[in-house]
Amino acid sequence: MTGSTTGPVPGSTADPEALRERALAALLAARERTAHLTSCVDEAELTAQHSPLMSPLVWDLAHIGNQEEQWLLRAVGGRDALRPEIDSLYDAFEHPRATRPSLPLLAPDEARRYAAEVRGRALDVLERTPFHGSALTDAGFAFGMIAQHEQQHDETMLITHQLRAGAPALTAPDPVPAEAFDGPDEVLVPGGPFTMGTSTEPWALDNERPAHQRLVAPFFLDTTPVTNAAYQRFIDDGGYTEPRWWHERGWAMVREQRLAAPLFWRREGDQWLRRRFGRVEPVPADEPVLHVSWFEADAYARWAGRRLPTEAEWEKAARHDPRSDRSLRYPWGDEDPTPERANLGQRHLRPAPAGSFPRGQSPLGIRQLMGDVWEWTASDFLPYPGFVAFPYREYSEVFFGGDYKVLRGGAFSVDAVACRGTFRNWDHPVRRQIFSGFRTARDATAAELAELV
Ligand code: AVJ
Ligand code: FE
Repeated sequence: MTGSTTGPVPGSTADPEALRERALAALLAARERTAHLTSCVDEAELTAQHSPLMSPLVWDLAHIGNQEEQWLLRAVGGRDALRPEIDSLYDAFEHPRATRPSLPLLAPDEARRYAAEVRGRALDVLERTPFHGSALTDAGFAFGMIAQHEQQHDETMLITHQLRAGAPALTAPDPVPAEAFDGPDEVLVPGGPFTMGTSTEPWALDNERPAHQRLVAPFFLDTTPVTNAAYQRFIDDGGYTEPRWWHERGWAMVREQRLAAPLFWRREGDQWLRRRFGRVEPVPADEPVLHVSWFEADAYARWAGRRLPTEAEWEKAARHDPRSDRSLRYPWGDEDPTPERANLGQRHLRPAPAGSFPRGQSPLGIRQLMGDVWEWTASDFLPYPGFVAFPYREYSEVFFGGDYKVLRGGAFSVDAVACRGTFRNWDHPVRRQIFSGFRTARDATAAELAELV
């Protein structure tokens, strides 16, 4: 068998005090981001619905507090409900997003006060809770889970910001341009078994578990995400007018919605413009394409004579180290993400040019597997062998087998606490408001494999 663990985890179960510090820092960082996303627009904008696809921002805010209350105060802390009457308002399954503006939601000030009150008590619970002895609190799992939950809703709120009309509310510096990438367009990922998923990463969520062996045939994978320039060649070649490139449902979507380009793009004369957080700008050629549906990614890949990588292929490329035959936590190794390795955490409001982050590349030289844009994979969202729902079925289990495709690798929009080599995201294949891009793959031919021997 090949290596069956992810290896040493910095600040792992061996050191509960380091994990407690980490949990505190993660909770504080998430709240700082939440405060930023909900204080840069006025009250009317917080309660408005900017798109039927999204909740009003004030719903996310109180939902963040309510989840924290349910898990950290009630489940871990054994406390009574602060406001039992609001639980159902903030239950994502009881009320679809489109209906949330008509609910008697907490007003912005009330929502802020509620989330702050929960947080004050949650920090007490954090101080008193042993990080061992129960599955929920081992290695501080519940605290890590709640920090991830808040960051996931921060990303959701960032999508709402992108969809909202009106004057820009957010700013951030652009990524510093790296030296131009001069590596190959694709590399061979050798076939063979590797360890997929994890049983040791302390805050990995239920759908990432357990670690298990997967066999992957040799394949070629793009060394960078597909760029806007490459995607424009697909458009220019009539990609959106040729049913042969499209999945049947994708073609239906193109016709019904008259799609001709990624979401937020607009043609003006002979150039493509895009709207990004309220500002209109020319589409940058060398940036990974953003705001495409799975159907568009799938059609582009077919047009290019290629295909999307499966989820297992993606994870093997992102984690397997051929030198040690071990699965790493990240493409670059086991160390946590840094700004030199990956564009994460809303430090920028856009992806970095394709080929950036040499220090974040995989052992095979594949770049930007973490950060920049979420990458669509060919795979449906399904449980790993041995999956156990934990701590609640509604995080993952109820979505397995539904109309969802897996996205991997995180984007500029997600924090490092909610992104790792094993992290799995999923969405409907028609979705394009998310920060989604892709890279392509192809099977290795017999002739290419024979040449290697
Ligand atoms: C994992 C991003 C698909 O936003 O629907 C938030 C995360 N789950 N609250 C989502 C989530 C419950 C989830 N995604
Ligand atoms: Fe949620």
